[in-house]
Amino acid sequence: MSKSYKVAVLSGDGIGPEVMAEALKVLDAVQAKFDVSFERTFANVGGIAIDEDGQALPEKTVDVCKASDAILFGSVGGPKWETLPPDEQPERGALLPLRKIFGLFCNLRPAIIFPALTGASSLKEEVIAGGFNILVVRELTGGIYFAEPKGIEGEGGARTGFDTMKYSDAEVERISHVAFQAARKRGSKVCSIDKANVLSTSVLWREVVERVAKEYPDVELSHMYVDNAAMQLVKWPKQFDVMVTKNMFGDILSDAAAMLTGSIGMLPSASLDANSKGMYEPIHGSAPDIAGKGVANPLATILSVAMMLRYSLDYATLADKIEHAVGRVLDQGLRTPDIMADGCREVGTVEMGEAVLGELSA
Ligand code: IPM
Ligand code: MG
Repeated sequence: MSKSYKVAVLSGDGIGPEVMAEALKVLDAVQAKFDVSFERTFANVGGIAIDEDGQALPEKTVDVCKASDAILFGSVGGPKWETLPPDEQPERGALLPLRKIFGLFCNLRPAIIFPALTGASSLKEEVIAGGFNILVVRELTGGIYFAEPKGIEGEGGARTGFDTMKYSDAEVERISHVAFQAARKRGSKVCSIDKANVLSTSVLWREVVERVAKEYPDVELSHMYVDNAAMQLVKWPKQFDVMVTKNMFGDILSDAAAMLTGSIGMLPSASLDANSKGMYEPIHGSAPDIAGKGVANPLATILSVAMMLRYSLDYATLADKIEHAVGRVLDQGLRTPDIMADGCREVGTVEMGEAVLGELSA
């Protein structure tokens, strides 16, 4: 009997619905061709949820996610909701609570350069020749994003804003295990990024990572301060395999790593809980400036579907097929405007999605 999975689809705002539509066609193609089916339930999130349901993360959306095997997330936010109180805005009102409610402590952000796209990278050809393949493992439910106290105190010109950075042994241990286990399946190297020359949380972080490393003698561990890591990323990205780091450093470094691949429009991500149930989303955000124009790059969302198949639903071979189909479409010279280059053919969101479908069913 064919297997059936429940997928919560949270398309959100901006280009989210456009890129999600293409990713869902890919899911259709997978289910038409292989012995598996995906039952989708759509739910509002972000700005559209504020407009239609009065809050960025409605209770019924949480219920839909709870009843699903995986969550596909588009993007949230836009100028329309930027004047709301910060805690009610789409990012803080929906994305951060979703991570917390579902215990999605592990954020995987691969930065892989497709051979056809080396010209789109902001780095010199000789630095990226031969490509690179970095996996940023970002801790996602702790650190300065969530620890209390945080707030703004005082009045007028005499206020103080404060956040707390905090990590426990247990939090560092579990993300370290993910990093070492991931490294075993790739290049067997982990670089832990911290700021142990200044921050107490980083001193603890480093000690715990070293302790966990003893269980993985086959994986090479190195440490790097975050400022140096930012520099090394743009200087010689090939030196990295798996980078593991705390919430805020991972936020910053994963954007830098993403840009090295040529376009943030290419990169998927997975946010996983302790049982590998997870939420999958492109890392590019809602891009309100191009929303509704049919030009957004759907590949990051399509690649997020591949990550969902790989990490939550245990269909690595189907994930491979989607990733290869994306590679072939790029080899043919099809490009959305964000990755357009000389000699290539510019296409829109739908045409790009259909090209991937064509390759998948070939
Ligand atoms: C990301 C984003 C979010 C973050 C924002 C939108 C809250 O930048 O997923 O990287 O900072 O985690
Ligand atoms: Mg970010």
